[in-house]
Amino acid sequence: MPRNTPVNVGLIGAGRIGSFHAETVARRLVDANLAAIADPAPGAAQALARKLGADGAYEDVEALLAHPGLDAVIIATPARFHTNVLVQAAEAGKAIFCEKPMALTLEEADRAIAAARAAGVPLQVGFNRRWDQAFAEGKAAIEAGQTGTPQLLRSLTRDPGPFGGDPARIPLWTIFYETLIHDFDTLLWLNAGARPVEVYAIGDALVRPDAKANGFLDTAVVTIRFDNGSIAVAEANFCAMYGYDIRGEVFGSQGMVTMGDVRRSSMMLFDKSGVSSDTWRRDTEHFIHGYTAQLAAFVRSVRGEPGMVPGGEDARAALAIALACIESISRKAPVALG
Ligand SMILES: NC(=O)c1ccc[n+]([C@@H]2O[C@H](COP(=O)([O-])OP(=O)(O)OC[C@H]3O[C@@H](n4cnc5c(N)ncnc54)[C@H](O)[C@@H]3O)[C@@H](O)[C@H]2O)c1
Repeated sequence: MPRNTPVNVGLIGAGRIGSFHAETVARRLVDANLAAIADPAPGAAQALARKLGADGAYEDVEALLAHPGLDAVIIATPARFHTNVLVQAAEAGKAIFCEKPMALTLEEADRAIAAARAAGVPLQVGFNRRWDQAFAEGKAAIEAGQTGTPQLLRSLTRDPGPFGGDPARIPLWTIFYETLIHDFDTLLWLNAGARPVEVYAIGDALVRPDAKANGFLDTAVVTIRFDNGSIAVAEANFCAMYGYDIRGEVFGSQGMVTMGDVRRSSMMLFDKSGVSSDTWRRDTEHFIHGYTAQLAAFVRSVRGEPGMVPGGEDARAALAIALACIESISRKAPVALG
């Protein structure tokens, strides 16, 4: 693809994160064009297309895939639709950026990977933490050997409170499939080359104890043992009253690296009540640079430029840990990974 031709991107799923990604393509990337949008919710695609200046607005995926000149798609539907839409897009020859989780079963993950491979199209998955500056610098320090042999790793996700979701409308196991999957990918990435061999998960409904009887989990801790001897902890909670809290840590034989900060910036206010800092309340503000960088990398890979991006195999590896967590909770026991 010539350097000065913009990559034509279609959005599938014009909800919360899809709308933000569409805005990134239309307004934050110089070499991409938001060509079309599809969403079955009446008027959703049209409204977003009008706002962002996209040519096409459709209610079904097939129509979007037939939009003239479309090079690539962003899949931001609810998770249960990801694999089928991904396979459809691959068969239409489109490059694919798929939000996490790429799939809900290993069979689905294999089907997605095979479809992208058979079509020869790039497949990137939305593990945006890899594109956050602090996490990227931490990874570079680990790779440079500055922390030595990894011994203990930690990754945590605490979503900002107050928790306003309706537990009855949140799919079972969301904490593993959609929240902790970020932490699993982060740990696998930071501990590159090591294979997870044992997973033990405990969880509870501490934010919404009233929903516990239905199997709802809003709090979980997962331990992961790797074949290089290192041990990791991943932790999540749906209601951090002080704001977004996303951090990582790797402790090794030669040192430690920490990544992520609860504070919104280094600004601290000193006044009569003491010292205070603001915190993050929205992921689209906290990760605006990471979200933009991951789509910029996607556009580069659509152009055929090489680069390290989380792909289908990475998504499968993180999913395998999420599935082991579900089994571990169900059996109340550690689960060995094959
Ligand atoms: N990487 C991240 O940090 C991050 C952040 C937020 C959401 N996500 C992921 O993005 C996905 C979407 O999340 P959301 O919060 O934007 O959800 P949402 O419910 O706000 O939006 C989903 C949209 O998809 C549309 N839709 C449903 N079925 C469709 C289909 N078959 N084809 C096209 N569109 C369809 C819905 O009408 C809706 O507009 C989830 O998998 C979620 O885990 C990732």
